[in-house]
Amino acid sequence: HWVVDKHVDNLWKSPEIKEAAAKIAAGELVAFPTETVYGLGASARFDEAVKAIFQAKGRPADNPLIVHIAKTEDVNNYTNFVPDKAWKLIHSFWPGPLTIILRHNSTLSTSVTAGLDTVALRMPDHPVALALIAASGEPLAAPSANRSGRPSPTTAAHVAEDLDGRIAGILNGGATGVGLESTVIDCSAEEPVILRPGGVTRRQIEEIIGPVALDEALTEETTAPRSPGMKYQHYAPEAPLTLVDGDDSFFHMCITEHRKAGERVGVIIQAADVGLTKADVEYVLPGKTEEEIARELYGALRTFKKTEVDHIFMRVLPAENIGFAIMNRLVKAAGGRIRSQHS
Ligand code: TXA
Ligand code: MG
Repeated sequence: HWVVDKHVDNLWKSPEIKEAAAKIAAGELVAFPTETVYGLGASARFDEAVKAIFQAKGRPADNPLIVHIAKTEDVNNYTNFVPDKAWKLIHSFWPGPLTIILRHNSTLSTSVTAGLDTVALRMPDHPVALALIAASGEPLAAPSANRSGRPSPTTAAHVAEDLDGRIAGILNGGATGVGLESTVIDCSAEEPVILRPGGVTRRQIEEIIGPVALDEALTEETTAPRSPGMKYQHYAPEAPLTLVDGDDSFFHMCITEHRKAGERVGVIIQAADVGLTKADVEYVLPGKTEEEIARELYGALRTFKKTEVDHIFMRVLPAENIGFAIMNRLVKAAGGRIRSQHS
């Protein structure tokens, strides 16, 4: 554990960052904060180091990683051609929670791209992440720093819970900001396509480059996703999660039904729903806005331990703006389980 103050000047010269960067240069794994979630970093140029990421996470090898860079121009190091629309997005949203898929020029480890002819690139908006990339001089391959299938980590403690003993260290820069992963947009073909909703909304993207398509798999359950990672079970809490789509009394009914059957029930609710129903463990989301809910969501899912609850319930949210990304993650965390009053 290296504790770093993200507000310090010349962070890249600090002893903590230097030590962490030396580990990266030696091919080891270091977890670090970004503005979205914590990442598990290794040099994207060393195949052995990248393979170690897949091992530590228990991640399927066909799921490629995002490569994090510290300067927009570095895109040119790993690609031969960047379409105009991609440059517009880069200039509008970097540093920030937008990952752009482009055709690569074969200079990076082949494990990073899982053998595809495209690479996912992103410049994170976090001083600790940028300092680590600068100090190591390496592009950082970094998936979210959780064991595969678990909710992504938004604090250093979450990373330790999943990966302690499996990695060289954790740069602790405090809680992340957005709380959900970056938006992934494929710009490798003529028409850009959003593969994963996230910190930057479709509307924000369309304001810059006009209409963009959504990968069909985001709205049609039957379609295989174009982003390999989107097909796996993800973000799963320790106890099964069921989403509830209905009015107050329907929500109350779902919970009492399960408690009467002898189950210990956990709920994730907003302040407005406090007192509506009785559960064994209650997590009240502190904020009201979609942004505040996004920030707390993974932490909330992680608080429920299987020793304390048998089932978790949460009401669905409007799938608009960042709510679309929240619902995308929740449906996956629930393994598709939704109880609807209307069906
Ligand atoms: O916010 C984030 O994006 C965080 C932080 C650490 O930067 N990272 C993250 O990485 O969420 P990960 O590995 O958990 O998710 C990367 C996603 C996966 O769904 C993966 O399949 C997709 O990006 N991806 C990566 N390279 C791709 C490619 N060449 N083509 C299509 N999808 C790709
Ligand atoms: Mg992940």
